[in-house]
Amino acid sequence: MKADQKRWDKRFGMKEFALGKEPNLFLKKHIRFLPKGKALDIATGEGRNAVFMAEHGFEVDAVDISEKGLKKAQALAREKGVRINTFLVDLDQYQIEKERYDLIANFYFLKRGLIPRIRKGLKKGGKVIFETYLLEQRTLGTEGPKQAKYFLKPNELLRLFKNFRILFYREGIFAEGGRKKAVASLIAEKI
Ligand SMILES: C[S@@+](CC[C@H](N)C(=O)[O-])C[C@H]1O[C@@H](n2cnc3c(N)ncnc32)[C@H](O)[C@@H]1O
Repeated sequence: MKADQKRWDKRFGMKEFALGKEPNLFLKKHIRFLPKGKALDIATGEGRNAVFMAEHGFEVDAVDISEKGLKKAQALAREKGVRINTFLVDLDQYQIEKERYDLIANFYFLKRGLIPRIRKGLKKGGKVIFETYLLEQRTLGTEGPKQAKYFLKPNELLRLFKNFRILFYREGIFAEGGRKKAVASLIAEKI
């Protein structure tokens, strides 16, 4: 078993939802502007965002390396009375099917090599919604990964999506959900 899988299965192994059942606030705020249809939630974890998208009429595929996380995602979907499709995959290798999705969501998972695969997997005009930590998060010391490679540098997310049309972008320290977080958030369209 891969180290990532072991670590996340351990984190998600308890009964409580480690990352909560509530969706990401940036997703919640913008869901009504996103194109309905087929959506992919990358590194879905315990499925809080995948289930929220399903509740808003999306047909959702959710992928992750943690079997424990995916089981909880299915349990959350049942609790909310919606359906999601879950797939146990390693995103180091996973190829997103060409032009399959209207929307791809990527929250708190940074694998730079995935951006071209996200582009390929979107239909023309499809949207991507993305949020993850900036390097400044390390100085806040509240939460987040340990290794520097998992944090975005200034303007890096903008650069990673330079061949998309940027519809919304922000980066900085924001007080949301009762605590400060250093994040970059983006919505972009495949052109
Ligand atoms: C911080 S969590 C984010 C979960 C979710 N996106 C959210 O915002 O609630 C990171 C997720 O990445 C997944 N992950 C880590 N490495 C992975 C890999 N190589 N392939 C697929 N998923 C991976 C973990 O299992 C975990 O669910």
